[in-house]
Amino acid sequence: MSAAEGANQREIERVLVVGAGAMGSQIAMVFALAGHHVTIQDIAESGLTTARKQLEERMDTAVAKGRTSASAAQEALSRLSFTTDLGNAASAADFVIEAATERLEIKQQIFADLDRFAPPHAILATNSSTLGSSKVAKVTHRPEQVCNVHFFNPALVMKCVEVVRHPQTSQATVDIVMELVRKIGKQPVLINKEIPGFVANRLMGVLRDEALNLLGAGIASTEDIDTAAKTALGHPMGPFELMDLVGIDINCMIAEATYAETTDPADLPHPMLREMHQAGNLGRKSGKGWYTYER
Ligand code: 3HC
Repeated sequence: MSAAEGANQREIERVLVVGAGAMGSQIAMVFALAGHHVTIQDIAESGLTTARKQLEERMDTAVAKGRTSASAAQEALSRLSFTTDLGNAASAADFVIEAATERLEIKQQIFADLDRFAPPHAILATNSSTLGSSKVAKVTHRPEQVCNVHFFNPALVMKCVEVVRHPQTSQATVDIVMELVRKIGKQPVLINKEIPGFVANRLMGVLRDEALNLLGAGIASTEDIDTAAKTALGHPMGPFELMDLVGIDINCMIAEATYAETTDPADLPHPMLREMHQAGNLGRKSGKGWYTYER
């Protein structure tokens, strides 16, 4: 019996989320709402404080809208704990999902630490949208228990989770993770080979770049292109609204990471995106992107 099969038999109870940013904190809440005990670890105490406050506010809103009862929200919040101590948090985890900065050397350091501290049966996943998990698996002694588990923004809402195996990911790990994703109420999509952008971001990138080309050629305004995507194609947001939600910086970072893998100039960030990034117009997070937001 492999260590990952051991995890299956024990059931995944304790989850560790590394990184308390927008993605990490909401991923943690998804697991807590599904009944898991979840630790959120971040190197910055301030990041943990912000995450806790934002999740409490989200739960208050959910209760006010009648989406959940006050007691269920309180119970879910009480299943969350917050720490800066990675070693201690990892030592009790059955499943770890890393949602830290998209920098390979940082992620490799985290995975080396996780491998050292987490129990042998623990599965180590990364939420990275740009780095295939083989790059972090190689610093561990359990590459067969490593994969990408990629959530979408906002993670509390979006149903899809891409599960991406690398060449050494075991079938037992894939089966456990696919089942886990279903159990937390999400829709897993299995991606059998590491490919830059996986599936959803590749689809999003095509639409985004065509929207930018249409705007750049003066064919239609941002508002009208967004309206077409929403009312003709049924998308919940238009491509410009989505760029602002995801962040212009994140869009550029994804394109740059894709280019680093493919060296295809077509994958480089669109010049209009680059300009916005350089001007500091990052979308919702900076108050201004393609649209202006009240802060
Ligand atoms: N965080 C958490 N919950 C949020 C939220 C946020 N930032 N924004 C909205 N919500 C919740 C609301 O509370 C509401 O919940 P309820 O149904 O329980 O009341 C629900 O989402 C709907 O919100 P609204 O009524 O305010 O607004 P909309 O109906 O316009 O929905 C949206 C907002 C869910 C963001 C919707 O517009 C949407 O689905 N947009 C597309 C998002 C998308 O494509 N995401 C993928 C991005 S790509 C990515 O993440 C990949 C990565 O690698 C970059």
